[in-house]
Amino acid sequence: MEQGLVELTLNGTIVRAKDGQSIVEAARDNGIYIPTLCDYKSLPPAGTCRMCMVKVGNRIISGCTTPVANGMVVESESPELSDLRKGIIEMLFVEGNHMCPSCEKSGDCELQALAYRYRMDVPRFPFSFTNRSIDASLPHLILEHNRCIQCLRCVRGVKARGGQDIFGFTDRGREIRITVDTTHPESMSDEVARKAEAICPVGALIRKGPHYTTPVGQRRFDLTPIGTDVEKGGEDA
Ligand code: SF4
Ligand code: FES
Repeated sequence: MEQGLVELTLNGTIVRAKDGQSIVEAARDNGIYIPTLCDYKSLPPAGTCRMCMVKVGNRIISGCTTPVANGMVVESESPELSDLRKGIIEMLFVEGNHMCPSCEKSGDCELQALAYRYRMDVPRFPFSFTNRSIDASLPHLILEHNRCIQCLRCVRGVKARGGQDIFGFTDRGREIRITVDTTHPESMSDEVARKAEAICPVGALIRKGPHYTTPVGQRRFDLTPIGTDVEKGGEDA
């Protein structure tokens, strides 16, 4: 075995992975898509959404926070895992207000794209019809708290040029709210608004300005359903 590599069994096939990679990263490098929501590119994993759950032995664990190990046996696809993931998607839909036809992020929303992938029809849980405030007080950004799935990608990934935090949060659980440090001058910038909109997997952070400009049929996930680019050997969605 080459130094720095480990060998594991993934869905019945022996594959190689870089030592220290997460199961999600190793699977991606081997053309296997494990769905994620809170995990994002090179950000440290947060492990908040549980979309990436996989089975290792008899245990179901999150694939984004678990590093690969030599001899590990991982199952990332099964009817059981699919139903668990679908259940999480349904919970996220009923916990917020995700009215896709009127959402600016429709077609570019990872939650919506996963709902299509897992064939969500009617959620098995009752809708909570949240009535949180919508904050449009910033010059370039709208915070639609009813659509926030608490993935904390904005908190971890959008920083000022000097590395300072722009986004934070208050409270916990269902009461958690994303906050913006308005004392930092960059929080008011269009650049931060663009970054925030891009990193948010749903339509909770929306830049003020034109929307609905890409015709239906040509939006990101119309063209490449979520996960299919990994399965075809391309870049992650
Ligand atoms: S605002 Fe968006 S990126 Fe930030 S925690 Fe909520 S869903 Fe995640
Ligand atoms: S993607 Fe792994 S816990 Fe969210």
